[in-house]
Amino acid sequence: MTQLSNNSSISQRLQAVIDSNRHPKSPVAKDSPAVDYPQIAQQLAGLISGETDRIANMANCTALLWQELGAINWLGFYLFKHNKLVLGPFQGKPACSRIELGNGVCGTAAQMFKTIIVADVDQFPGHIACDVASKSEIVLPVIIEGQLVAVLDIDSPEADRFDCRDQQGLELIIKTLQPHL
Ligand code: SME
Repeated sequence: MTQLSNNSSISQRLQAVIDSNRHPKSPVAKDSPAVDYPQIAQQLAGLISGETDRIANMANCTALLWQELGAINWLGFYLFKHNKLVLGPFQGKPACSRIELGNGVCGTAAQMFKTIIVADVDQFPGHIACDVASKSEIVLPVIIEGQLVAVLDIDSPEADRFDCRDQQGLELIIKTLQPHL
């Protein structure tokens, strides 16, 4: 009978965590000042205007977000190359260089083509801990003309740091960046 409780597959547990975070309980991140994403998007547009190099533009995007977002300990892009995610421009401690599609929060967001908010990384089956300080995480796919180009991964040392406002704001940031990738 004990087997029954263990019968839930990794993918079922994964979906349960994703579903439980779809409508996070707290609408605004605790103790974090409101982030003016439209203003950041304007700053980003100015920073990357006239530059066509993808890495340069992603690098400036990470630097800007790192400067403007509160309560984060890692922020960066993983680029989709040869069916894997490969570390791209980032801010924070050194991180794992490659992530297989379907692995961790990044590989899952990449495989599902959807944003994933994880309120408690310890509850996410297969979470890859690059920095033990990370308690919550948001990963957004960057998709151009139906093709996965990268994911944007942001970690926080606070549990339940990210909500749907961050998701919408960061989607605006990605939309601003996309024509310059
Ligand atoms: N936590 C991520 C791995 C990347 S690091 O957080 C920088 C994941 O589970 O995919």
